[in-house]
Amino acid sequence: MSLSVVILAAGKGTRMKSSLPKVLHKLASKPLLGHVYDTAKSLGAEEVVIVYGHGGEQVLKTCEHIDAKWVEQKEQLGTGHAVQQALNVVNLKNDVLVLYGDVPLTKEQSLRQLLEDFENKIALMTVKLENPTGYGRIIRNNHDKVVGIVEQKDANDEQKHIDEVNTGILAAKGNMLKKYLDQIDNNNAQGEYYLTDVFALAANDDVEIITSHPAACYEVEGVNNRLQLATLERIHQRNIADELMTNGVTLADPDRLDVRGNVNISNDVYIDVNVILEGNVTIGSGSSIGANCVISDSIIGDNVFVKPNCVFENAIVDNDVDIGPFARLRPDTHLHKGARVGNFVEIKKASIGEGSKVNHLSYIGDTEMGKNVNIGAGTITCNYDGANKHKTIIKDNVFVGSDTQLVAPVTIGENVTIGAGATITKDTEDDVLVISRSPQKSIKGWDRPKKNK
Ligand code: UD1
Ligand code: CA
Repeated sequence: MSLSVVILAAGKGTRMKSSLPKVLHKLASKPLLGHVYDTAKSLGAEEVVIVYGHGGEQVLKTCEHIDAKWVEQKEQLGTGHAVQQALNVVNLKNDVLVLYGDVPLTKEQSLRQLLEDFENKIALMTVKLENPTGYGRIIRNNHDKVVGIVEQKDANDEQKHIDEVNTGILAAKGNMLKKYLDQIDNNNAQGEYYLTDVFALAANDDVEIITSHPAACYEVEGVNNRLQLATLERIHQRNIADELMTNGVTLADPDRLDVRGNVNISNDVYIDVNVILEGNVTIGSGSSIGANCVISDSIIGDNVFVKPNCVFENAIVDNDVDIGPFARLRPDTHLHKGARVGNFVEIKKASIGEGSKVNHLSYIGDTEMGKNVNIGAGTITCNYDGANKHKTIIKDNVFVGSDTQLVAPVTIGENVTIGAGATITKDTEDDVLVISRSPQKSIKGWDRPKKNK
């Protein structure tokens, strides 16, 4: 049966104390709503309908790339009213699953269990809580069948003692859901159209209400304030860390790795403390990432050794490369096999050839470097003339002496040696020694200036 997923995301989120709509607050760098949408997609949803309201324009703009039917709920008249709006565009022949834009960590597995078998029934996800205060309580009859849900504000003292609560997540045939939603009213303590009222109506018609539970409570926890957001972020991060370790990655401290994107990390990788991986990051087998590295959208090969405090952005690092400490790889850096990039080196839009070394305090930008090149400390490619960027080409086996400036556009031929302290402004032939410095002089009998009395 085809599945339609309705995501309720119209609420204001007052307790976030934010100008940003609640569902746009981020967990692992992705808006809460994005997590729920991805979950819907992982279930193979044929259509996803998102009910939005507060901060509508901002939500639509941020989520442009999300392929969903957007339905505006102009006034937040209750969860039942919100689902009614969605059903106006839903294919009513489909199974309909209701999720919440501010409940980001529901697992595919728990939802599959809920959706297992509810032909002519309504499926409801419930959970037992030590402290059920605030939630809708599940009312069961003597035969343990669900006969309704009572909201906290409408509950009597006896009902308030019930510890099984409504998570809000439910599934039913579109037609059936519509039938009962058409019958609800707002005669209750909050004057709202409650989605939860469909259960008593259905039970009255002898429709069976089947319940299932999430594998863990956090799967149905919503974000109402920034404390809850931080709590769920930590749970999510720990889940990722656990999965990595299970797959053969060693983490110095699973609570001090943050993954904000999609990572593909091979076995026998070692990751030290306080590492952040963002976007799409691949790390090959046997590689090691030092403390305090931030690696974004990069591909790292096998047996790469990254020392502490490095920052990579959009870089490709081939096998057997050594980097850092304190190296910065900016976009379009490619370090070829066996290269070495040392401390306080910045590389941008440059390819460093096989076995080449840039060991200390250098800036290499817009550069194509051959194999087995040695770049001395403090070498700078002067790639920018104030208006345009120019390219530096350094061929195989070049030795660049320390404190050299290579003023681009410039090409250094093969096997060239550049004496320290050079300012290179012209292309060189192959196999030469290039020196560009004034001859050293010694002046005898020179008196140092003395302080005036
Ligand atoms: C709801 C349930 C309650 C359940 C709890 C779980 C109802 C009547 N109550 O209560 O049984 O235990 O969730 O967290 O359903 N929303 C809209 N439009 C609206 C109203 C709400 O989109 O008009 C969205 C909100 O943005 C939010 C979600 O629906 O994401 C739940 O709404 P909320 O007002 O927080 O419901 P609760 O009172 O917590
Ligand atoms: Ca709520």
